[in-house]
Amino acid sequence: MMEFMYSIPSVVNFGNGASQKVGEMVLGFGAKKVYCVYDMGVQKIAKEIVQTLKESGLTVVEYDGVLPNPPDTIVEEAAKTAKEANVDVLVAVGGGSSMDCAKAINILLTNPSPINQYDGLNLVKNPTKPLIAIPTTSGTGSEVTGFTIITDTTRLKKMVIGGQFVGATVALADPLLTVGLPPAVTAATGMDALTHAVEAYVSKGASIPTDVNALKAIALIAENLVEATNNGSNVEARTNMLLGSMMAGFAFNSAVLGLVHSIAHPLSVHCGLPHGVANACGLPYVMEYNAEVVPDKTIDIGAAMGLELQGLTKEAAVKKVIDAVKDLSEKVKIPTLKEAGVKKEQFDRIAEDALQEISTLFNPREASKEDILDILEKAY
Ligand SMILES: NC(=O)c1ccc[n+]([C@@H]2O[C@H](COP(=O)([O-])OP(=O)(O)OC[C@H]3O[C@@H](n4cnc5c(N)ncnc54)[C@H](O)[C@@H]3O)[C@@H](O)[C@H]2O)c1
Ligand SMILES: [Fe+2]
Repeated sequence: MMEFMYSIPSVVNFGNGASQKVGEMVLGFGAKKVYCVYDMGVQKIAKEIVQTLKESGLTVVEYDGVLPNPPDTIVEEAAKTAKEANVDVLVAVGGGSSMDCAKAINILLTNPSPINQYDGLNLVKNPTKPLIAIPTTSGTGSEVTGFTIITDTTRLKKMVIGGQFVGATVALADPLLTVGLPPAVTAATGMDALTHAVEAYVSKGASIPTDVNALKAIALIAENLVEATNNGSNVEARTNMLLGSMMAGFAFNSAVLGLVHSIAHPLSVHCGLPHGVANACGLPYVMEYNAEVVPDKTIDIGAAMGLELQGLTKEAAVKKVIDAVKDLSEKVKIPTLKEAGVKKEQFDRIAEDALQEISTLFNPREASKEDILDILEKAY
């Protein structure tokens, strides 16, 4: 019997200049006052969006204090301001950190504080306000997922808050906004997107709709990541990367993720690694580990990457796929865990925490603490 769950929370407007529709979109919700959430790294882009909103006759309240791997403390602070200002719509401009921050703020506008009580799936009970997500990285897919990832600063853990009221209502995906993304951020966020697609494809929650999106995302990212990193002004490569990261979001929103993300979250919390770097470091080694139970799917991933695998034994084909992922990582200059500043003394805590992550439940191969320690050693 075929049985699956598939959903996408957001209406998508994709294309060059799509972000300019923001005023018309907000007015469509009958709103007057907008809360615009962003981080200082995207200030220039955000100010242009704010200007467009003002030209549409809207009142804009700005929050520019988003931090990477956003902590719960800033969500509480920003939600308080938004509540006091009595805003009707939220607009998020930035990467996953800004979009996730806005999603979490939005939860607190119609649900009681603190945000920490919603860690898990479907714990947000009250409908939220309209939220327009404008991504400026091609990585997280947060513009189309029903998840927000917020760091719990007391428990030292990245919370995964998911459910029907969490996602953005509208995604304005404008490739032109990603043109100025620096090479290192392009590389790391692109490897995050690739990880989403790979993990969704081999996930225990995968289905035909998630597979189709995952494989297309893998193809787009494998073909365009090096070019987007080395030649950021190539709009075609930027377009394909934004499409790829978004399609990976279409896949993992329903299929969920796996052990790469389970390890990446504690790496960010305890060692400060950017999310994409943390994923990229572990990806080939988790793929190698999982290939024992999903060799055919691993080979499918390689075929989607454009590798010539015909005539090879299963073992040789799997090795070629893993090597290609390592090669891609090296080409875009992803550091090793050691180069990223991780200390071996931190491995034990990282492995312990990874076992508790929700994505671990969806990984195709059941992992022990020793397995995770072994993966960390290989990625060092
Ligand atoms: N909600 C989800 O479904 C989901 C999925 C995966 C990851 N995440 C979360 O998203 C966060 C990571 O997001 P991210 O990887 O997009 O990074 P980010 O949002 O932290 O941004 C990284 C850096 O890039 C800068 N930047 C962004 N766009 C730019 C642009 N166009 N030009 C110049 N600089 C730009 C930012 O200012 C920031 O300094 C993590 O917290 C991660 O856990 C969420
Ligand atoms: Fe991710």
